[in-house]
Amino acid sequence: MSELSLMGDSISKICVVGLGYIGLPTASLLASNGYFVHGVDINEHAVNEINQGKIHIDEPDLDSYVRSAVSKGTLKASLKPEAADVFILCVPTPFHNDTDPPRPNVDLVVQAAQSIAPFVQPGNIVILESTSPVGTTHLVAETLAAAGVDTSTLSIAYCPERVLPGKIMTELVQNDRIVGGATPEATERIKSFYETFINGTVLGTDCKTAEMAKLVENSYRDVNIAFANELSMLCDEAGIDVWKLIELANRHPRVKILQPGSGVGGHCIAVDPWFIVHQNPPLARMIRTAREVNDSKQVWVANQISQRAKEFEATNGRVPVIACLGLAFKPDIGDLRESPSLEIVESLLHDGHSVLAVEPNIESHPRIPLSSLNQALTSADIVVILVKHKQFRNIELSGKPVLDYCGLNVS
Ligand SMILES: NC(=O)c1ccc[n+]([C@@H]2O[C@H](COP(=O)([O-])OP(=O)(O)OC[C@H]3O[C@@H](n4cnc5c(N)ncnc54)[C@H](O)[C@@H]3O)[C@@H](O)[C@H]2O)c1
Repeated sequence: MSELSLMGDSISKICVVGLGYIGLPTASLLASNGYFVHGVDINEHAVNEINQGKIHIDEPDLDSYVRSAVSKGTLKASLKPEAADVFILCVPTPFHNDTDPPRPNVDLVVQAAQSIAPFVQPGNIVILESTSPVGTTHLVAETLAAAGVDTSTLSIAYCPERVLPGKIMTELVQNDRIVGGATPEATERIKSFYETFINGTVLGTDCKTAEMAKLVENSYRDVNIAFANELSMLCDEAGIDVWKLIELANRHPRVKILQPGSGVGGHCIAVDPWFIVHQNPPLARMIRTAREVNDSKQVWVANQISQRAKEFEATNGRVPVIACLGLAFKPDIGDLRESPSLEIVESLLHDGHSVLAVEPNIESHPRIPLSSLNQALTSADIVVILVKHKQFRNIELSGKPVLDYCGLNVS
């Protein structure tokens, strides 16, 4: 049994709502720490897989946690919530792209809060982990109150997640965490709860600060990547090797420029800054500009490749075969969400280019036929490097023209 129950806060059952990349690792980690976990997802396939001890997402080590918890009976998945001592909401928070700036979509958070409302009892803990605009934890409380829950007896907090896909099971335990309670008492109580299953330091604050901290962390990354991406475009025009430039500039003791790439992808860094911009467009000018710079990079890359293909055709009298290496949004994973490389390849195909796409971290793609690395390199007239996957390091290019957008062999 957990340390918390020894301290007098009798927590034994936890209901985790949303069993994706955040919810399932969290649920299985809690189960491995002696809690009984009732996991909830609206995806029936996910629920069935988990109840057979399998996983429906790709994350190292997660399968053994889930298998072990399900076989011991400490983790069970369901389409419906149940009564519990703690409710943790880990549902997606995408954005609507139909306005300028894009607006956050917290509909699934509201739906998740409504779904737990009939099961929430006085004294329960309710935690929001989804990356959310400032004010969403209060919205959860308001949603519960509107559904008839007496929220005055609850401990409610926002606790953002900052794990790295591919290392989630390690980082869930090792990373420091922020707990932003709706009240100071909630902060202290929920801090104690997290301290029962993570080794990092748990830092307490209020919920607005915790919500903003998560958005700021990803906006900070976006702004710094935008600086590198802008440099890469400026250097290209000026005939300067951006990789060499950054290496030299970083020899300054207080300069640490990041590496440019083909854009910014994933469902966090490419999304979360908009939550800040949406809440205060007149003041969030730099964060907005960074988003725009990073979004423009993939268009710039696609245009450059098209231009190079036209030059090849003019010289050789035929369209070139373009090998595009990498579709994922970052190295050494198969996650294609919001991936600039995927969008570049789709735009080249849409414009009628002859493209051989290589992505060693997935087996197939619904719209893009995949080639093996060997096949693509053998047939290519132009090689485009979009993602720095380890499989691409030190490839034999036999003097073929190369457009490298990620500094393949830069360490
Ligand atoms: N994946 C990451 O690396 C990461 C890191 C930090 C923060 N986050 C944030 O965590 C949140 C969850 O992200 P994720 O990557 O786990 O998403 P995900 O898409 O992998 O999983 C979310 C799950 O929630 C389920 N779901 C949706 N609505 C539901 C509802 N009303 N009731 C029950 N289940 C529901 C979906 O079916 C899905 O299985 C997001 O806000 C995200 O921004 C993610």
